[in-house]
Amino acid sequence: MKIAIMGLGVVGRGVYDIITSRFAPEIEVKTILDLLPLEELHCIHAKSIDEIVNNPEIELVVEAMGGLHPASDFVLKALQAGKHVVTPNKQMVSTIFAELQQAAAENGVKILFTPSAGGGIPWLYNLVRTKRCGGIEAFRGIINGTTNFILDSMEKSGADFADILKEAQRLGYAEANPSADIDGIDIQRKCAISSNLAFDVQLDPARIDTAGIRRITGEDIRAFRENGLHCRLLCNGEKLPDGKICAYVEPVLLKEDAMEGHVPANFNMVFLKGPEVGELGFFGQGAGRYPTAHSLVEDILDIRAGLGYTGNGPQAEIDNRSAVHAYYVRTEDPALRAMAREPFGPGFLTGPVSVAEMHGAVRAAEAAGHETFFAAVRA
Ligand code: HSE
Repeated sequence: MKIAIMGLGVVGRGVYDIITSRFAPEIEVKTILDLLPLEELHCIHAKSIDEIVNNPEIELVVEAMGGLHPASDFVLKALQAGKHVVTPNKQMVSTIFAELQQAAAENGVKILFTPSAGGGIPWLYNLVRTKRCGGIEAFRGIINGTTNFILDSMEKSGADFADILKEAQRLGYAEANPSADIDGIDIQRKCAISSNLAFDVQLDPARIDTAGIRRITGEDIRAFRENGLHCRLLCNGEKLPDGKICAYVEPVLLKEDAMEGHVPANFNMVFLKGPEVGELGFFGQGAGRYPTAHSLVEDILDIRAGLGYTGNGPQAEIDNRSAVHAYYVRTEDPALRAMAREPFGPGFLTGPVSVAEMHGAVRAAEAAGHETFFAAVRA
């Protein structure tokens, strides 16, 4: 099999290294598309996507450029030219999910994107595999390594948010624009992709109620630890009996016996729930050159073996009114403060409130200029 790699950055280079060291000559990296000069590599250095789509020898394209454009334009061209595609690009996959699936189906090829949620963990692959027997009822978990690193480090060091964010950036965990991680946008995209495959639907990622950890302080963390609680940023997905999907991302306060509260550093941990299998958990590296490249190589090997998955469900509505928790809230917003049941550290605890109501109230508070941190309290 001859393949092309688009983008020789962190992940693209990882795929090149694994393929050339373990799978050559059966799998050959024929062409690399990258604008930067390449060091001495044994392949064609393409400057244009046309050099890939017009080469009949290339069967599969690895998209490792990231971002929406031009990656999505190049991927659609590759699919239309009858080439399989593998990609870790969660922004592209979550934004144009249906278009990618349709282009692959119309041209008799596959697009696999296992590392787009969970990085090196075979999460999406096993979600699809498990779904065959009775479907997936729900999933939840930590699928953003940067925020887990920040929360875990704040707990362990006592340092404040800004200092730990700088450390995450220095270590290369945080995205170039940290907002994608700390405001929950990265995990929101992964939540949409996981829901699409788990429940055979298409969700608009922007409609998933999402709160990140930008506003958390050392004082919040100290109050949580004094009460035996760990804070983690979790995504949640559940198929409701009426076919709507409950999907949201928010910080959660977990008791000592919850496994997610002990996930260290930048690791991920995610669980699915099925009718017979019950809860099934996955733990591992959600990012990084070789874990992500390894997952892409697994996708290449699956396509080569005639395996894979598709997702082509209808658009589904998100309804977060039935998920109800107590919340920890720290804010000066009067409407939110009216929900207080009892003081807790620098904030307060509410009674049971639906996810839809709480996220709506916090968005209104932030729009009115009241900086607010909140976290669900898991019973
Ligand atoms: N910024 C992402 C994370 C990278 O921290 O999980 C992997 O998707």
